[in-house]
Amino acid sequence: MKRPGNKDAVASGPIDFADTPLARELADLTARRRALEGVQIRLPERTRIITVSNQKGGVGKTTSAVNLAAALADLGAYVLVIDLDPQGNASTALGVTHTADTPSVYDVLIDEFPLAEIVQTSPESDRLTCAPSTIHLAGAEIELVSQDSREHRLHTAIADYLIAADKAPDFIIIDCPPSLGLLTINAFTAADEVLIPIQCEYYALEGLSQLLGNVSMIQQHLNPRIHVSTIMLTMYDGRTRLAQQVAEEVRTHFPQQVLETVIPRSVRVSEAPSFGQTVIAYDGQSAGAIAYREAAVEIAQRDPTATRPATVNSAEYDERGV
Ligand SMILES: Nc1ncnc2c1ncn2[C@@H]1O[C@H](COP(=O)(O)OP(=O)(O)OP(=O)(O)O)[C@@H](O)[C@H]1O
Ligand SMILES: [Mg+2]
Repeated sequence: MKRPGNKDAVASGPIDFADTPLARELADLTARRRALEGVQIRLPERTRIITVSNQKGGVGKTTSAVNLAAALADLGAYVLVIDLDPQGNASTALGVTHTADTPSVYDVLIDEFPLAEIVQTSPESDRLTCAPSTIHLAGAEIELVSQDSREHRLHTAIADYLIAADKAPDFIIIDCPPSLGLLTINAFTAADEVLIPIQCEYYALEGLSQLLGNVSMIQQHLNPRIHVSTIMLTMYDGRTRLAQQVAEEVRTHFPQQVLETVIPRSVRVSEAPSFGQTVIAYDGQSAGAIAYREAAVEIAQRDPTATRPATVNSAEYDERGV
């Protein structure tokens, strides 16, 4: 049978598969994977405390917090993730227990439990730990209102933890809820840096000025160290003009803060939490995992005070297939 398409294919010559968008994407990913193989990061002199915040919901705060933490741990850093969201998504992704009766961030904020008593090690790595959140944290926002030093409770808990710790973490990453209430204020008061994930879609920049206003208010009144150090573009789909436009606009407004690395929309990234894993453990070779590793390297390299070389067990690194 004669098919119309055949004639056209012959007329235009054989298809060059090496020059298809998919082949180019695969070649690019392979090159980036290779480039990451030899990378060694330097660790900060003192613990870097980074809060991942954006009052907009579903922009990739939790996904970025846990995957950056896992990528940094994989690069040799000791990382503590503090789950400050009653939804407990970061605790789920890091595979730690967070049932209602688990000692959690609620006990630290309300009953002044030492942070060390609630920290659990993630099954993913000995270098990756998590202070879990439980459903009780949903009430903390209201309970905190009547407490002394209600804005400083997390700051005090972290300071005590760092003084008492045998091995202080190199990074503390705080996952915030999608609000600008007292939990987020506690994170801003405790942290040195704010990392804002921005989803590359139409309403991306809406609410950003309110968030920046809050950061500068905290800077003036509660914590002079806090600043927006990093903006991360998430769920990027390069095939849409809208995503490209949003990325361009954000880069124009915040040239210093926006990371070169862009996190692509990736099925593997969204699947990982349902296995109680980060994408680094779930599929370390996927485009999402590579991007989070690159972002982690960029964040580590941006710290001019970082001097100690991180040592990675190379067998462990190979196991992940990267
Ligand atoms: N790069 C990505 N590719 C595909 N899906 C993603 C990506 N990043 C995040 N997601 C998915 O988008 C949804 C929202 O992500 P996430 O929970 O990290 O956002 P969030 O800002 O923490 O949300 P919330 O405001 O509710 O805390 C989740 O279902 C997550 O799996
Ligand atoms: Mg979240």
